[in-house]
Amino acid sequence: MKPVEPVRIPDEETVARWRRDFPILRERVHGVPLVYLDNGATTQKPAAVIAAERAYYEQTNANVHRGVHLLSQRATDAYEGARACIARFVHAARAEEIVYVRGTTEAINLVAQSYVRPRIQPGDEILVSAMEHHSNIVPWQMVCEQTGAVLKVVPIDDDGALDIDAYEWMLGPHTRIVAITHASNALGTLNPIARLIEIAHARGVPVLVDGAQAIAHLPVDVAALDCDFYAFSGHKVYGPTGIGVLYAKAGLLEAMPPWQGGGDMIRSVTFEKTEYNAIPWRFEAGTPNIAGAVALAAALDYASAIGLEVAGAHEADLLAYATDALHAIPHLRMIGTAKEKVGIVSFVMEHAHAHDIGTILDQCGVAVRTGHHCAMPVMARYGVPATVRASFALYNTRAEVDALVEGLARVQEMFAL
Ligand code: ALA
Repeated sequence: MKPVEPVRIPDEETVARWRRDFPILRERVHGVPLVYLDNGATTQKPAAVIAAERAYYEQTNANVHRGVHLLSQRATDAYEGARACIARFVHAARAEEIVYVRGTTEAINLVAQSYVRPRIQPGDEILVSAMEHHSNIVPWQMVCEQTGAVLKVVPIDDDGALDIDAYEWMLGPHTRIVAITHASNALGTLNPIARLIEIAHARGVPVLVDGAQAIAHLPVDVAALDCDFYAFSGHKVYGPTGIGVLYAKAGLLEAMPPWQGGGDMIRSVTFEKTEYNAIPWRFEAGTPNIAGAVALAAALDYASAIGLEVAGAHEADLLAYATDALHAIPHLRMIGTAKEKVGIVSFVMEHAHAHDIGTILDQCGVAVRTGHHCAMPVMARYGVPATVRASFALYNTRAEVDALVEGLARVQEMFAL
């Protein structure tokens, strides 16, 4: 077998070229160049995505699946073409396995209500991990309240890695679904998702993967992973807000009742009886976010053209560079030091609240997220109320990491650390 070549880290000129694709990176904030390190919250959009959304409204806009007129047919083709593009991006077997949703949160709620709720009994278990975002906790708590099922939580170690032994023994005869993140938004931990799926499947348990923080940083192949559900948001992968994806195996979708009723999700309606549409339209009641779908496809085309392996290698380099630099800062404690991580560094500093640090960094032009990152149980696990989080995307540079470090020096001066 030919050895697999390691992916080369792109040179500075390549990254500079990528940067030029993102108009917002030319912005200045507080009189200094913007250093955008809040990509875990949302990524910036390349000109191609902005142009796709604009072109849709300028040349195509009409409602889908409803009109015989040319624009409606064009809109339908664009909307369904985008679905096929998304299916190719995640290696789904069929476009029908792609359901448009508002984002990861809606995708998880859909699975919770439409797949899990009708199948779960009092005393059954839903397995999540201690590193989940609220959107992969609360929908399951709601199902537990509705059904008498029990939420079980697989612990993480001090580095923020999943306790795989605990995962194995907690997957019991009553587990009805595993819902787990591919990568943690608060810690950066990258879970060994293929292995986790294999273990769950060996016990006959389906797996939902929250892909919100992974989708922009590594190639995802749902067929190879054999996951049952994979959820992600468009805006975290260079696409627009308000559009996301639930991938689900066709056989599972076929067995799921609709979640919301309305136009477009039906085949026929009388006051006596409604026949539902085929998958995936059965899950897309009402006029969908057509422009968002089209622009999301443009974003995925953009990411594919760059190559997520190459972008991932660049982000891994930034992560290593930032980790070394932050370790050298006195009074700074890293939160999330697992061996396998995506490009996220989360940290606290003694005597300085995360929000104050974020405000000072903002004055230096450096945008980071501060707070609990919608992962309060992770904060509780580490005994901190909040962290500062810098999260990288393909357009970030080592010079921007330096700007972060300089900003932290300013924090130290101001707090006399
Ligand atoms: N879930 C997003 C984040 O991690 C908003 O910042």
